[in-house]
Amino acid sequence: MDSFLIKGGVPLHGEVTISGAKNAVLPIMAATLLTPEPCVIRRVPNLSDVHFMAQILEWLGAKVKFEGDTVRVEARKIRGQGDYDLVRKMRGSICILGPLLGRLRKARVSLPGGCVIGARPINLHLKGVEALGAKIRIEAGYVEATARRLAGSAMFLGGRAGSTVLGTANVMMAAALAEGITVIESAACEPEVVDLANFLNAMGARVAGAGSPTVTITGVKQLHGAEHEVIPDRIEAATFAIAAGATNGEVTLKGARADQMHAVIDKLNEAGVRVERRGANLLVRRDGRLKPADVTTLPYAGFPTDVQAQMMALMTLTPGISIITERIFESRFMHVSELARLGADIEIEGPSAIVKGGKPLSGAPVMASDLRASAALVVAGLAAKGTTQVNRVYHIDRGYENIDGKLRQLGARIQRIEES
Ligand code: EPZ
Repeated sequence: MDSFLIKGGVPLHGEVTISGAKNAVLPIMAATLLTPEPCVIRRVPNLSDVHFMAQILEWLGAKVKFEGDTVRVEARKIRGQGDYDLVRKMRGSICILGPLLGRLRKARVSLPGGCVIGARPINLHLKGVEALGAKIRIEAGYVEATARRLAGSAMFLGGRAGSTVLGTANVMMAAALAEGITVIESAACEPEVVDLANFLNAMGARVAGAGSPTVTITGVKQLHGAEHEVIPDRIEAATFAIAAGATNGEVTLKGARADQMHAVIDKLNEAGVRVERRGANLLVRRDGRLKPADVTTLPYAGFPTDVQAQMMALMTLTPGISIITERIFESRFMHVSELARLGADIEIEGPSAIVKGGKPLSGAPVMASDLRASAALVVAGLAAKGTTQVNRVYHIDRGYENIDGKLRQLGARIQRIEES
């Protein structure tokens, strides 16, 4: 398992190109199952999660071809069962449920199971497809959904932590080929949901209201192939902005979309990290001393849970007390104990972490546990004195394209140690 060796203390300088959004490209790749015609998706990030999704599509019978950052998918004939192990390994692959139901009226997908950040239930996904007429059976670790016919209907997808991003995606994709009109109340409003809706509409679907809590889908008989460029990854952009602030550097984020990052930009400005639009890019630099900031994660357009860990790393460097409250997942504080190994002073009180920041961090060996926790450890290592070794970086390769190469381009002393 690879690890990163980071010699901290170097301010990051220069410009970095933001890759396509992982959380947009996964459901969009799944959506290609809705048509037998070829689809072309551009600005696809080179991530292990993307290659996993490609393997799942191929297992289902689709032809998948990568040409640089473009992928061409042709799902001429497909079967309705996802490979048990592949789907289990990547939670995001639950989003094949909707397209398989829409195209074949049947789907058999392994239950994704939980992960380190929480139980990750799919009750809202199932509620949504049942509302369209699917019959659900859970057995031997699979969820089986069959529908003699899919009929549009009204449904409420709000859960205990707001809506569900991939649940909204699944219902949109199944409803695209249902008969009649579907109205999703309390739909997820994330930009990645909007990007999926734009792709579906390019395929001939009729999705309206994506990005708002009420999404209306008017079913059509069939969908055709389409081309689409994926939106830039707002979480990757936020991660690099925080790394620039943490190392007192100055970085241009090429292609980052300020309009999709208001909560992060607002919070970073409050914390003393100035983020300014420069044409189609964002310029990030420190604005004097870092200041403590309280953060609560919320559904979009609130502060994203996927940036919580990285923000905590920044707050450990900030003199004063910052309170970080996680409202989306029940156990997304795996990074706390590892940040403590670097000298951070953080106490967990229920859903909140109380960060007493300002003491300089010092490098140490730390363990990555999930995608964004690993990113937080890299940010902390870049700012810590001495050397930090981040182990099990396969977690980070799931969601960040060539992060070590991009950081080196910005002057970071980071190298990947490949372990056979
Ligand atoms: C998506 O996961 C993202 N993943 C996650 O990013 C992100 O953290 C999450 O949305 C929230 O923004 C992808 O898009 C591939 P949810 P998703 O369904 O759709 C509860 C990353 O780091 N819930 O919106 O699986 C759930 O337990 C990843 O890139 C139910 O109760 O998340 C959670 O508390 C991590 N029942 C909350 O809703 C359900 O049926 C939000 O989950 C579904 C979800």
